[in-house]
Amino acid sequence: MKNIDGLMRSFIVNLGEESIVSFYDKIPKQGKKLRSKLIFEIAGSSEQTSMLAAIIEMIHMASLLHDDVIDDALIRRNVNSFNADFGDKTAIMMGDILYSCAFSQLTLLPQSAAEFVSKAVASLSAGELLDVELSKIFNTDKDKYFRMIYCKTASLIEASAYAAAVLKGFEGRDFAAYGKNLGLAFQIIDDVLDITSSDKMLGKPALHDFKEGKVTLPYLYLYEQCKEKDKKHLMTLRKKSLSSYENTWIKDKMEEYGIIMLCTREAKYFGDKALNAIGKYNIDGLNDIVRQMVERDF
Ligand code: FPP
Ligand code: MG
Repeated sequence: MKNIDGLMRSFIVNLGEESIVSFYDKIPKQGKKLRSKLIFEIAGSSEQTSMLAAIIEMIHMASLLHDDVIDDALIRRNVNSFNADFGDKTAIMMGDILYSCAFSQLTLLPQSAAEFVSKAVASLSAGELLDVELSKIFNTDKDKYFRMIYCKTASLIEASAYAAAVLKGFEGRDFAAYGKNLGLAFQIIDDVLDITSSDKMLGKPALHDFKEGKVTLPYLYLYEQCKEKDKKHLMTLRKKSLSSYENTWIKDKMEEYGIIMLCTREAKYFGDKALNAIGKYNIDGLNDIVRQMVERDF
């Protein structure tokens, strides 16, 4: 993975602009590199695999730079976000630079891989747009939630798996299905952890989604299942800085209605679907990735 960091940095150094390299070095880089792990598990080690992994990580990094501006997020992975330290304008432009750099490298990969990845980036942006739109209302439409998490999160994981399969000469569609379902499971667990985990474990404020107006799957299910009186109260808590009494109320209701178990089961369902898609290839590492995703606590 060290190699990937070096490769990403070399894309930036090759631009020949010292100030960009200096800003790049200040972008926090403590990510889990899930997408790279996935790519190496599928395609094995080679120069082209490393290129693909670096391209995908760079797109991911660009999307988080923009996302933190959009979400007004000041902390990510327990450190200041880039926008918190250098301002929104620099964060947006650095995101644009990373994204463009990744794209020029992408043109060097096989066409079907490049095409799938570039479509996924359009999907990422569509997902972020939908996320912003949905957070303006108390969204109770589960299909819209799934559409949004597919675009915002699963599409790039799907494209990573597809492109890695193309490099290895495997059937791209099987791996795309694996990546898509893994991505859906990943985002559902992310939405659960926002409620069950702590600031320290998450590296960002916990119980934050609802404050941002986001009715994630646990809230959607809680709303669907709770009594009329609780529904009314729940609606008053969205987009609000919650007192510790209100935080506890939400967690207690999630417990009372078995919502966390329900969502975890749904994530597991997508995890199993992911594994079924690539069962015939017998790649143990891909089972481990699904397990780690569903059982993680940060
Ligand atoms: C995190 O969501 C956001 C994403 C995974 C995707 C963001 C995509 C864009 C901003 C589109 C632009 C893309 C490029 C390449 C420039 P979240 O806010 O739910 O997660 P978080 O809690 O980690 O912030
Ligand atoms: Mg965000």
